[in-house]
Amino acid sequence: MRLGVCYYPEHWDQGLWADDAKRMVDLGLEVVRLGEFAWSRIEPASNEFDWGWLDKAIETLSDVGLQLILGTPTATPPKWLIDTYPDILAWDKDRRPRRFGSRRHYCFSSPRYTDETRRIVTAMTKRYGDHSAVEAWQTDNEYGCHDTVRSYSPAAEVAFQSWLANRYGDIDKLNDAWGTVFWSQVYQSFDQIDLPNLTTTEPNPSHVLDFYRFSSDQVVTYNRMQTTIIRANSPGREIYHNFMGFFTDFDHYQLSEDIDIAGWDSYPLGFLDIGPYDMAEKLAFMRQGHPDFAAFHHDLYRNCGRGRFAVLEQQPGPVNWADHNPAPFPGMLRLWTHEAAAHGAELLCYFRWRQAPFAQEQMHAGLMRPDNEPAVGAAEVRQAAQEREGLKAAQAETPKASPPRIALVFSYETQWMSEIQPQGATWNYMKLVMHWYSVARSFGFDIDIVPPGAKLEDYALVIVPSLFNIPPPAIEAFSDARAPVIFGPRCGSKTQEMQVPPPLAPGPLQELIPVRVTHVESFPSNHLEAADFKGQPVTAGVWLDHLESDLSPIVRSVSGHDLLYHHENIWLFTSQPDAMFLRLTIEAALEPTVPNPEQLPGALRTRTSGAIRYAFNYADEDCDGLSVLIKEDGLFDLGTAHLKPADLACWRT
Ligand code: GAL
Repeated sequence: MRLGVCYYPEHWDQGLWADDAKRMVDLGLEVVRLGEFAWSRIEPASNEFDWGWLDKAIETLSDVGLQLILGTPTATPPKWLIDTYPDILAWDKDRRPRRFGSRRHYCFSSPRYTDETRRIVTAMTKRYGDHSAVEAWQTDNEYGCHDTVRSYSPAAEVAFQSWLANRYGDIDKLNDAWGTVFWSQVYQSFDQIDLPNLTTTEPNPSHVLDFYRFSSDQVVTYNRMQTTIIRANSPGREIYHNFMGFFTDFDHYQLSEDIDIAGWDSYPLGFLDIGPYDMAEKLAFMRQGHPDFAAFHHDLYRNCGRGRFAVLEQQPGPVNWADHNPAPFPGMLRLWTHEAAAHGAELLCYFRWRQAPFAQEQMHAGLMRPDNEPAVGAAEVRQAAQEREGLKAAQAETPKASPPRIALVFSYETQWMSEIQPQGATWNYMKLVMHWYSVARSFGFDIDIVPPGAKLEDYALVIVPSLFNIPPPAIEAFSDARAPVIFGPRCGSKTQEMQVPPPLAPGPLQELIPVRVTHVESFPSNHLEAADFKGQPVTAGVWLDHLESDLSPIVRSVSGHDLLYHHENIWLFTSQPDAMFLRLTIEAALEPTVPNPEQLPGALRTRTSGAIRYAFNYADEDCDGLSVLIKEDGLFDLGTAHLKPADLACWRT
């Protein structure tokens, strides 16, 4: 894994550039990402290009051997462009055009913006496409950031109508799929269909789902337009996009098919503060980030990128955008860096080189302070860079055996359906997924997060926290899985059109386990079904599927509700299990193949990369738990069996 940094030469006096470049190299950095917000400097007026400064910046950085990732600057269309063509702007849910003055103020459906994007991306890739220092491109910046996937503009409405015409062909098919006979919504033609906003009460859920699918497709199409131009003008260069944390408004699996390396932006402290965690976790990990936050996204985006991923922005200190912005615990920058490598990242770039003393992000740390002295994180970057260098040989070794791996099936459509019709305020698909991920990871297993339909034959265990609609390839993959497959509640409860399936839930899953959901309930967070499993008290809550079956449940709650069923290699929860319940179920499912799996203590986490196994202490106190995993101190490539807070160790497996 190489290290790099995000740099904005346009923010600084040219007199600083050469020294910046030299100090980047001194710190151990090899890659610079730049350009992604620089449109107004590149083209200050329509068709008047000023390449001089960017030529110079590229030359200065490449002169010291830095490799460059150029960002297409389309996240920030300049003022003159918006004033000339206000139809570029996205519209919010209240049908107000968004205004100029921040960023991402464009609508993915604006034909004008498609043309303008083609123009600027062509100009930029023609100029730098074969520059020897330009090794790669990043398309745009964080598609969807600031709630910008779904636009309610006139352009979006027209595009949605033609997307629907394309999908259904015949308006009666749409009427059936949506059930428009309900509340007298029957349409006669596609051009009658509005966007699903500003309705008196909730709009038709299938209408909303199709609008979400359409909006996701618009992002994919827009990105593909950029990648096509880049590939034509910059052959041999790889293409990244930088995804975000906990962001689900478009299908990242699909978009990733058009890029080479799935990048993402890792802000563990910002996302702890605004993420789906309870207050106890927020306090316990305030300066470390949740121990599974970065790992979860590494494991998701690695699989989006078909094995290739990068961290394109790494939190370097306090950010400016969460509700509270603490500083990382000393050592965390180093830990996050190694952890990305342990999960297989090829590149990690810190965001950003120097803290800007002006504008929106003036409170966001960089590796350098605004006065150009190194910020607290810089020393950790240097240390991490040296340690990565020292681990090169070990990292290149071929492993003797590969450890058992778990597949977690994650579905963007289930997230959309959960948002559209949660049927209970406590239902939070993302939170449920994180819970299952954390429990599975507490056994020390490596996890791949995969889409429904992915091949599952090579896994020791498959977990499916929930999956509302189960497309045919997913059923096929589940039945081909040789390993145990554990399903959570609400699986197979919807069709592709978001209707109740004719055979009732779990829909097509009935082929694999003979059960039928007759009715369901949702609960407030303090209602828990208590039970006993393997001699341990366990609970389940949030949701309850009532099942009819010839099978006997293997866990029944004290109040008489059936919580867990098992049939051949299939395990099915009717309710959300607590950590103990899920842990015991995973153990029971693994018993025949992986008896007595490890149980990592507290906030210790591990990951195996090639022949190296890493351990990370996310706690703010010392941890001796490593002695469970490795006995001899002499074997460590890094660290010891005694981990200080925010410390790590690694050894050959
Ligand atoms: C990211 C974004 C960057 C910067 C950063 C601040 O979401 O891509 O441009 O704004 O956040 O943390």
